[in-house]
Amino acid sequence: MNKIPLIMDVDTGTDDAIAIICALMSTEVLDIKAFTAVAGNVGVDLTSRNTLNIVDYLGFDIPVAVGAAKPLNKELHTAISHGRAGLGDVTVPKSNRSFYGKDAADTIYEHAARMQGELEIVAVGPLTNIAEAIIRYPDIVHLIKRITIMGGALRGGNMTAASEFNLYVDPDAGKIVFESGIPLVMVGLDVTLKPQLPLAVVETVKRLDNKFAGLAARIFDFMLRRCEQYGFDPPNVHDAIALASLVVPGLVTLNQYAVTVETEGTVTRGMTVADFNNVTGKEPNVSAAVDIDCNRFWDWMTGKFLSAERD
Ligand code: RIB
Ligand code: CA
Repeated sequence: MNKIPLIMDVDTGTDDAIAIICALMSTEVLDIKAFTAVAGNVGVDLTSRNTLNIVDYLGFDIPVAVGAAKPLNKELHTAISHGRAGLGDVTVPKSNRSFYGKDAADTIYEHAARMQGELEIVAVGPLTNIAEAIIRYPDIVHLIKRITIMGGALRGGNMTAASEFNLYVDPDAGKIVFESGIPLVMVGLDVTLKPQLPLAVVETVKRLDNKFAGLAARIFDFMLRRCEQYGFDPPNVHDAIALASLVVPGLVTLNQYAVTVETEGTVTRGMTVADFNNVTGKEPNVSAAVDIDCNRFWDWMTGKFLSAERD
C-alpha cells in the first residue's frame, strides 16, 4: 500500500508530543516529509526546539522547519497547561541538528508542489503556517490533498465558552484555511474531549522499555500530575486523536457542514460556526468529527507502543 505523504504542523506542547510519537510509530503507513512548528502552546522558539529534540531523540532525521512566531493579526496567547517550556517538566536531550533551511510556509509549499496533489497535512496548532503558505502561494490550494485539523468545535470551547484554543489563537488564519477550498477534516473538541487517558494505558506504557514508550510515559505522568494540581479532568490527548483519525479508518464519525470562523467577536472570537440548518445556502467545506470509538483509539495507541517494543 502506498504510504501517506505527510507534513505535521505542531505547537509542541504535551499532546502534540504524543501525536508526534504516535506518528513516528506509524511509519509503515506514513511517509513524514517534515514537521513544521508554529507558536501556540508556547513560543515558536520552544515549539520548534521541542519538536526537533523529540524527532532526533526517537532516531529520525526528518526535517523540522520553524514557522510563525505570532498569529497573522492578533497577539499571541500561549497555554499555561503545557508548562513554561511546552513539555511540562519533561526534558529531552538537545538535538545538535539544524532546523530546515526554509521556514514552515515555504517548506509546506515545497512538498505540496513536489507531491502534486498527494500531500496531506495534520495541523494540531494554530493555523498560522498553513494560512501563510496559502497567502504566499495561492496555487497551493490545488496541491494539498487534505488537511486534518485538531481544532475548533461544533459546540462549545476550551479557551472561551465559544472557541477552542487553536482557532482562538489565530482566527484569521483559521478563516483563510476554512475558506480555502482545501478538503478539511475538523477533529474538534466534540471528539477530542471524549477519550480520557486511562490509567491502564499509562501502566502498560510505563512497563515497556523502548524510547517511544519511555518518553510518552513521562509526558503522561506530567499530564496526570497537572490535572491533580489544577483539578482538570483526566488528560485529553487532542492532537494524537487527530493523527489517529488519519491512520485508523473509521475511528471517527464524520458529518459534512458549512463552517466559517468568527474573527472579530468579543464573546465568539475563534468560534467555528457550523450551519446545522443550511440557512446560509453554502456548500459544506468541512468534514467534522462528531463521534469517536474511544476503546478503539486506546487499543490502537497501546498496540503501537507494544509493536515498538518488539522492533
Ligand atoms: O485545544 C487543544 C489544542 O490546543 C491542542 O492542539 C493543544 O496542543 C493546544 O494546542
Ligand atoms: Ca497542539
